[in-house]
Amino acid sequence: MKRIFLIGYMGSGKTSIGKHLASRMGLSFVDLDVYIEQRYHKTVRELFAERGEESFRRIEQKMLHEVAGFEDTLISTGGGSPCFFDNIAFMKKTGETVYLKVSVDTLAKRLDAGKRTRPVLQNKSGEALRLFIDENLQKREPYYTQASIIFDTEKMTTESDLQAITDALEHILKKL
Ligand code: S3P
Repeated sequence: MKRIFLIGYMGSGKTSIGKHLASRMGLSFVDLDVYIEQRYHKTVRELFAERGEESFRRIEQKMLHEVAGFEDTLISTGGGSPCFFDNIAFMKKTGETVYLKVSVDTLAKRLDAGKRTRPVLQNKSGEALRLFIDENLQKREPYYTQASIIFDTEKMTTESDLQAITDALEHILKKL
């Protein structure tokens, strides 16, 4: 039985890498945000707007516990998931944890395009966005770096980069 949690900042590649890796390893794939949206019939953005972040974090924890009951599954978590409650300890106890690590500058570039769907980044762009990511990542790294595997996903522009990352991670995870 295998259960893998991908963790890391927004834009670190959790979903793209997760989908590839899961199919390569013959595991089911679950994106925690998508799972939450299906269970609550609301988007993450709506949940943030209607109930506030605190309530979203409680829902997120509850859903994390639900998906952690699935076997032979790779779970791509939300950027904040490991940083609230005892979530990182819980993930480490129930599966393998992989932190996809990317620099602030690269995250800022990737997220400038995708910030609209991400309530945490709303209304921030350019230098303000970079500064926010820098500060936020410093707060979150103590949680992320507790993962049992830390993997650099800085270079992920082409399809062959994605293949190479997937190959390397598959190799590491198969040996465990
Ligand atoms: C969040 C990241 C998002 C989502 C929510 C909050 C965060 O997931 O869970 O918007 O606090 O970093 P992704 O990392 O998949 O974008």
